[in-house]
Amino acid sequence: MGPVSVLPKYQRQGIGSALVREGLSRLRALGAQGCALVGPPEYYQRFGFKNDPALVHEGIPQEVFLVLPLGDSQARGVVVFHEAFAAQA
Ligand SMILES: CC(C)(COP(=O)(O)OP(=O)(O)OC[C@H]1O[C@@H](n2cnc3c(N)ncnc32)[C@H](O)[C@@H]1OP(=O)(O)O)[C@@H](O)C(=O)NCCC(=O)NCCS
Repeated sequence: MGPVSVLPKYQRQGIGSALVREGLSRLRALGAQGCALVGPPEYYQRFGFKNDPALVHEGIPQEVFLVLPLGDSQARGVVVFHEAFAAQA
């Protein structure tokens, strides 16, 4: 998931939380087994995201690579972003 961003003048009104919850709802509807993102742990822990040493993204500091399991499976290994994240504008 990501990047999640809200214009400063609209922050702290619940918009960011609504975006994250809607994203997670859509992932659950798709049958996804989990969600990974890069972001501040202090913000994303409220949604249940945690750092998991069993899941790494090469080149991303482990402390800001966060995951939220959505199913019963215990994912482990090296995570790569969807190819859409490499698209050039
Ligand atoms: C993070 C962000 C999307 C939150 O959007 P928002 O609409 O303000 O979020 P909400 O209103 O749902 O939640 C606000 C809460 O998040 C907290 N928060 C915002 N950014 C935070 C951060 N970097 N670390 C910890 N807490 C943070 C606020 O202090 C506030 O806390 P409170 O509920 O205790 O008052 C927004 O601050 C933003 O666009 N930041 C810049 C981009 C960014 O860092 N995105 C995250 C990485 S993908």
